Amino acid sequence: MPYFRTMGSLPTKRRTLFPKPDGGYYSEELVGEEGFSSDLSHAYHVNPPTAIVKAERVERDPIETTENWPLIPRHIRTGEISSGSDVVMGRVPLLTNSDVTIGFVTATESSELYRDASGDECIYIYRGSATLRSMFGPLEVKQGDYVVIPAGVVHQWVPGEDGVDALTIESKGHIKPPRRYLSKAGQFLEMAPYRERDLRGPVELPEPEVGEADVIVKRDGLFSRITYRFHPFDLVGWNGMVYPYAFSIYDFEPIVGRIHQPPPVHQTFEGPGFVLCSFVPRLSDYDPDAVGGPAAHMNIDSDEVMFYAGGDYAARSGSGIGLGSMSLHPLGWTHGPQKLPDGKRKPGVMLDELAVMVDTFQPLKLTSAALAVEDPSYVTSWDRSFGGANG
Ligand SMILES: [Fe+2]
Repeated sequence: MPYFRTMGSLPTKRRTLFPKPDGGYYSEELVGEEGFSSDLSHAYHVNPPTAIVKAERVERDPIETTENWPLIPRHIRTGEISSGSDVVMGRVPLLTNSDVTIGFVTATESSELYRDASGDECIYIYRGSATLRSMFGPLEVKQGDYVVIPAGVVHQWVPGEDGVDALTIESKGHIKPPRRYLSKAGQFLEMAPYRERDLRGPVELPEPEVGEADVIVKRDGLFSRITYRFHPFDLVGWNGMVYPYAFSIYDFEPIVGRIHQPPPVHQTFEGPGFVLCSFVPRLSDYDPDAVGGPAAHMNIDSDEVMFYAGGDYAARSGSGIGLGSMSLHPLGWTHGPQKLPDGKRKPGVMLDELAVMVDTFQPLKLTSAALAVEDPSYVTSWDRSFGGANG
């Protein structure tokens, strides 16, 4: 649900005949969420979008997971992951529960056509650029972009010249702007840290494609390859609120204060069972007596995942956390800065931080891929900053 867009040619009313100039009629497709009782788009295809030629299973190794046991904070070094394939089949799941799977991918190749039949995806571009192709039109994305792709929408990832590395967030439901940012009618409120004009959707229809098309379909971790008689990228027009869009983390307007602001001011999106937050460069707390950072804090009801995407996290100095690090602080775990130098930071200076946080309300399991790149000394990193020799 970004906002309503219209592109190309449409009939005056839905479910009315829409003749082609050379005879015959265009095929309407209704793309609707929640039993067609919520956000939707109408798309108009040159050819019927329903004809399936064949379908087959795509065999994949099952994802091995393990409980976070003993229950400790974790540091996963994504810089040691090199999947080297495409954004869809090359992604490496790291943390997962029944609501969301968080992974990482390094990609240099174009993906096949793909749709996620389980839920929306949010792909955060950590490095590089790509074109996200879909029937709604191409969308150019680059470092710092969140790319939200609604469930069911067939798309293809085409990396730019230098490839693309991304954080992958796969939901079992819909990923939306927080409801509290919106008016009753769905317009962004003045207090929201971003607006409609910050959301980038496709700006032109796709180049029409003809012929059969294979589409990889994922549902609950199982992949299928479905061959359609007609390529799905053949639209002459569409309108609605369901389409892929991008939002740059650099367009998130930080909310700062005289003393420390709580984590919800960073919230960017929400999905069933999780929230997604952005930590961006911003002015530090400006009261002369401000401590200048978060207190030690206990996230009572959520597992807290932080992906360090840029800048300099001085507060975690000595912990081993660096660019590309992913930390997991499990629910009920008291954590915070390693140790503030001289008791506090200078007031009112720019904090050069860039991070994506995912808080999940159900515990996350670790995959074997996560354990393979884990820093086992992370659990004692706070103790080390107080002179402890563990680790
Ligand atoms: Fe935290």
